[in-house]
Amino acid sequence: MRNLVVLPGDGIGPEIMKQVLRILQAVDSPFNYIEKDAGLTALEKHGSLLPDDTLQAITQHGLALKAPLTTPVGGGFKSINVTLRQKFDLYANVRPVVNLPGVFTRYEKVNLTIIRENTEDLYTGEERQVDADTAESIKRITRKGSERIARYAFEYARTHGKKSVAAVHKANIMKLTDGLFLKTCADVAKEYPEIQFRDVIIDNCCMQLVIRPEQFEVIVTENLYGDILSDLCAGLVGGLGVVPGANIGVQAAIFEPVHGSAPDIAGQNKANPTALLQSAVMMLHHVGEHERADRIMRALIKTLSDTQARTADLGGKGNTETFTNALIANL
Ligand code: NAI
Repeated sequence: MRNLVVLPGDGIGPEIMKQVLRILQAVDSPFNYIEKDAGLTALEKHGSLLPDDTLQAITQHGLALKAPLTTPVGGGFKSINVTLRQKFDLYANVRPVVNLPGVFTRYEKVNLTIIRENTEDLYTGEERQVDADTAESIKRITRKGSERIARYAFEYARTHGKKSVAAVHKANIMKLTDGLFLKTCADVAKEYPEIQFRDVIIDNCCMQLVIRPEQFEVIVTENLYGDILSDLCAGLVGGLGVVPGANIGVQAAIFEPVHGSAPDIAGQNKANPTALLQSAVMMLHHVGEHERADRIMRALIKTLSDTQARTADLGGKGNTETFTNALIANL
């Protein structure tokens, strides 16, 4: 048995986490579940968005499944997600974006992975008010940060049978920061001659993605561009309800969906648990539980093709709980 820290989070988080744990239990997943608080729930209960006890559990066990957290707007609160990624140096944010059979979209052949640098760029939180009418934000890119994310992307391509990697940037304008990122990616690419490397400017990339997304296999990019591209790409394959993610570091890994806490549908049994479930599937692969992961994916695909079972965001008649019941019956 392996210890797994479970963060049910805020908004729709507890609802979808409950269903995903039912599915993990239905396939006898070899985990001891250690439930911890984070986000608004933790603030109300413990007076902190990210209690020490939660941080200690992740430090100790190194593996977490996380539902979305709500970061209060204003009030000086730093994003908990950004804090977690920086605290545990979870430098690689891996987001596979794949058409799922049964989920109708405008595109049919999307099968790409976004590898987003997760610790640098404009997300370090270093901003300052210059005067009443001017504010500045620091964009920090390092060779070390760029090199390890580029290497992660090429290794990912190699182990997942992908033939190409595209570095997405804006080095034509930000010559020093994005220039360093791009140059480092190009240097790392030379070590992987079997993988085709190209660079794409972020604005062109957005246009290419909505015209011919099948041309991309692996996208490696900086933190902000990766954040925005993730939502764009989620839209290509059915929306935020279906895209999973992993935050990978050397000492720890946290698996979480791309979407947020969806306050507009929280507490209504409407949320689609697919993105969190697929994040759990990525986690199963990460710990070597490939058979259980594949079994869940087969049942998921079958369930998604059933209109009665699918949730409303995918045009179905099911809800969070009935979708899970159907999926468990399909296991
Ligand atoms: P959101 O992703 O929560 O919601 C955007 C839209 O997608 C909403 O209409 C929502 O109902 C829908 N949606 C999202 N997930 C869904 C699901 N599983 N099933 C069906 N529909 C779904 O983004 P929003 O509204 O911008 O952010 C809400 C809160 O979430 C904010 O406090 C934000 O800070 C937080 N957030 C947290 C993240 C995390 O914990 N990783 C990531 C993004 C946002």
